[in-house]
Amino acid sequence: MPKNSTFQLDSFREATPYIYAHRGKTFVIYISDNILAKSSIASLIHDLALVHTLGVKLVLVLGLRALIDKKISKTSKSSFQNNWRITDSKTLDAIKEIAGCVKTDIEALFSIGLINTPMSGMELNIVSGNYVRAKPVGIRDGIDYQHTGEVRNIAAHEIQQQLDTNNIVILLPLGYSKTGDIFNLSSIDVANHTACALESEKLILLLDKFKLVGNKKQSNNHYNINEAKELVKKLPKSKQQLKPYLEVAIQACLENVRRVHILDASQPGALLEELYTLDGVATLVTAETYDEIRPARLDDVGGIAELIQPLIDKGALVARTREQLELEIKQFDVIERDGMILACGALHIFADENAAEVACLAVHSEYQSNGRGSKMLSHLEKKSIDAGINLIFALTTQTSHWFIEQGFKSIKIESLPMKKRALYNYQRNSKAYCKQL
Ligand SMILES: CC(C)(COP(=O)(O)OP(=O)(O)OC[C@H]1O[C@@H](n2cnc3c(N)ncnc32)[C@H](O)[C@@H]1OP(=O)(O)O)[C@@H](O)C(=O)NCCC(=O)NCCS
Repeated sequence: MPKNSTFQLDSFREATPYIYAHRGKTFVIYISDNILAKSSIASLIHDLALVHTLGVKLVLVLGLRALIDKKISKTSKSSFQNNWRITDSKTLDAIKEIAGCVKTDIEALFSIGLINTPMSGMELNIVSGNYVRAKPVGIRDGIDYQHTGEVRNIAAHEIQQQLDTNNIVILLPLGYSKTGDIFNLSSIDVANHTACALESEKLILLLDKFKLVGNKKQSNNHYNINEAKELVKKLPKSKQQLKPYLEVAIQACLENVRRVHILDASQPGALLEELYTLDGVATLVTAETYDEIRPARLDDVGGIAELIQPLIDKGALVARTREQLELEIKQFDVIERDGMILACGALHIFADENAAEVACLAVHSEYQSNGRGSKMLSHLEKKSIDAGINLIFALTTQTSHWFIEQGFKSIKIESLPMKKRALYNYQRNSKAYCKQL
């Protein structure tokens, strides 16, 4: 098989857990004005079509600011106050015209089905409507914002119905009031309100050349809400234009969106890389503590089995069947990221002998040496103390030095709890280590 095909097959295999994890979930995707204006928009639409075909429910929110600026600069210039455009009637007419054109162009791109395109054979339905309800900004500090509005609410139920019938929903930064007026809205605000109203799994902001920090390692680009707040406070002057996006991300996570991905969509394929590979490429703000340890559930058995199989093959871990894992699942804890199990560990308690075994401690090979192994061990130690047990032990063939560095001491097999000794595999010849807590 050509080398390239092996690579493609490996990538496809890597994507499988993500395809499964994202299927049936709702993603609200904001596409910034600069990305919409790029010639590469067609390939982004192909990628979005693929994501939809893989079972993700998509709501696309289109940003129009730069396009509006370009159009109206020919005749006049908008003035802004507090980052709001003052929308007079002429400007509103221009916005309606641009919104119609952009929406039609996007619909056309979703309709391509030529045999030699990635969208061959796809039949995609795009819908839009009066799903955004608006209210006027009104007069503030004496300034009349005229046709500039704020989101009042989102017709979440109606959007959900469209998504459930397999339609892709497009929203524009225009909202309608009960009086029948049309208001110019901030598209990022529309995206935020929509994601919250739909309780969407993800809000994804596709920006042009978004770069938050230098060449930091990718794992450092993940922030929980508090870290993101700190980041906003410390944002250097040169990055101030990124502040509104981070603030929206924080707001969304404080409501009920689980994850906000801020992505440089000028990179070809960035969206697919973010959604269907282990690392992703985005800046991520999450409502959860990233890499949090949690008790394993039955539906983690597949992920744990996949994680430990290469280590079993290498002889580093004792073989465990899925059935055994299912039976022992309550004794396991895992570190999960986006549906992928990155690490696991089990604590088997020998209550009669006031001891507990740390077993099946494993970290995904691509995620080792980042402290996850010691974090999982500390967690198991704490669990042991909470259970009133202050001696833990481990059996290992290839990780002796790691356990010694974690404060374990070598012990004889005879010192192990009786039940464990009875099961000891002399052929495997593991060494035993213990730690007093
Ligand atoms: C052992 C293991 C759980 C550690 O996880 P981890 O997340 O990589 O560990 P940490 O980040 O906390 O520690 C990393 C340090 O341990 C060292 N280390 C990792 N495995 C080691 C081993 N087998 N022997 C000695 N040191 C080891 C690393 O070199 C690193 O040290 P460094 O930063 O000085 O280079 C992981 O390597 C693993 O899954 N190993 C295979 C499974 C196994 O043997 N489990 C134990 C049996 S229950």
